[in-house]
Amino acid sequence: MTNGMQRTLVRGISTLLTGEGPLRGPIARWSDLGALHDAAVVVAHAPDDARHGGGLHGGALHGGTIAWLGSASDPKRPAVDAERDLGGAVVLPGLVDAHTHAVFAGDRAQELMLRLGGASYQEIAASGGGIVHTMAATRAASPEALRDGLLHRLREMAAWGARVVEVKTGYGLDLASELRSLDAIAAARAALAGRMTVVATAMPAHAVPPEFAGRKQDYVALCAEEILPAMAAHPAAPAFVDVFVEAGYFDVADAERLAAVGAAHGMRLKAHVDEFERVGGLRWAIDRGATSVEHLLASDPADLAALAASETVAVALPLVSVFLGQPFAAMRALVDAGGLLAVATDCNPGSSMSTNLLLAAQMAVFGGRLTPAEVVRALTRGGARALGCPGGYDGRLRVGGPFVATAFAVATPDALLYELGAPPRAVGM
Ligand code: NIG
Ligand code: FE
Repeated sequence: MTNGMQRTLVRGISTLLTGEGPLRGPIARWSDLGALHDAAVVVAHAPDDARHGGGLHGGALHGGTIAWLGSASDPKRPAVDAERDLGGAVVLPGLVDAHTHAVFAGDRAQELMLRLGGASYQEIAASGGGIVHTMAATRAASPEALRDGLLHRLREMAAWGARVVEVKTGYGLDLASELRSLDAIAAARAALAGRMTVVATAMPAHAVPPEFAGRKQDYVALCAEEILPAMAAHPAAPAFVDVFVEAGYFDVADAERLAAVGAAHGMRLKAHVDEFERVGGLRWAIDRGATSVEHLLASDPADLAALAASETVAVALPLVSVFLGQPFAAMRALVDAGGLLAVATDCNPGSSMSTNLLLAAQMAVFGGRLTPAEVVRALTRGGARALGCPGGYDGRLRVGGPFVATAFAVATPDALLYELGAPPRAVGM
């Protein structure tokens, strides 16, 4: 090969889902996601770099460009320098966990007990628990502890199949601690280079910290004037700004101010809306051209119809519904109406203590009434769009596109949904 590039043949693929097919609307068969049987992929990539954990040969199916894909027995398959046999695995476009709050310290197991005893999420937050509880543990943690906790969770996510993961800050809630959260994201990104893409989101407007109690506007001003600009100047500058638009947290005017500052610093918009109450965040975010809107548990049908007709991705977080005992987002209706949908874990200590994206997918099928093909599309094409297609990865495996893939040691894609709560682990991390 020229330019020092190598070609590796990835073979031993019983079913390859390329992701080609309709982006919107109901789908029901694996063929709607471009299923190919007894398939192979040729990946053009730089020679393995030891700093990156061995690249293709080290196990991760992440890196390089797809030069060819098709039937393993196709005589037109190009010549290669090396081969990797997956032994009959099912291969999907790399799964995307498009919404996590995975950088934090401490835990809130005691809140689960209170909730199961009848207390609501809001009551627990009002009595000193909630986000502010995790903020205190996060501020007190050493940089190493913060990084190691994040890395541990990202490695678990990878074992469940995630190859692209979004991580929000938002448990620091002051300048130094939000920047330390970004430091942890930068360190985790470096440690996982060549195995996982880590996308950073700035979310200092996750809650009002106690030192600003009764002075929310002063905290919003701090976010706008100091925290977001400093985050934008960090080596791991966030691609997105997110705001918790919710009763008792931030309102649409706060979100508008922070979205404008974020935009001035190159950050696209995400917004937590309608998790508990409707305060107008969904309409505002759609009108502002948000890349994605998150949660949608209390959304009304007219707002959801507007969302389905837009380019904004709905991010459903079914594990939150299970964890908080809430109804599921209207996933079925959103897909039926032609909306763009992603499904993610929302991994966080308060409303979804899980790294398991396949469990979230199963809940979207059994609770959200998506078909298996729709949920895989939501984990791939939907998730990639919710993150602005980082590195050109749009949730498909296609010639000329980046090679970002997840392999599972199962006989058919059906098994990913069938083995409830004990899904098969991804191959090669
Ligand atoms: O996505 N809604 C805001 N943030 C999280 C919960 C955070 C927490 O309770 O620590 C969520 O549900
Ligand atoms: Fe969240």
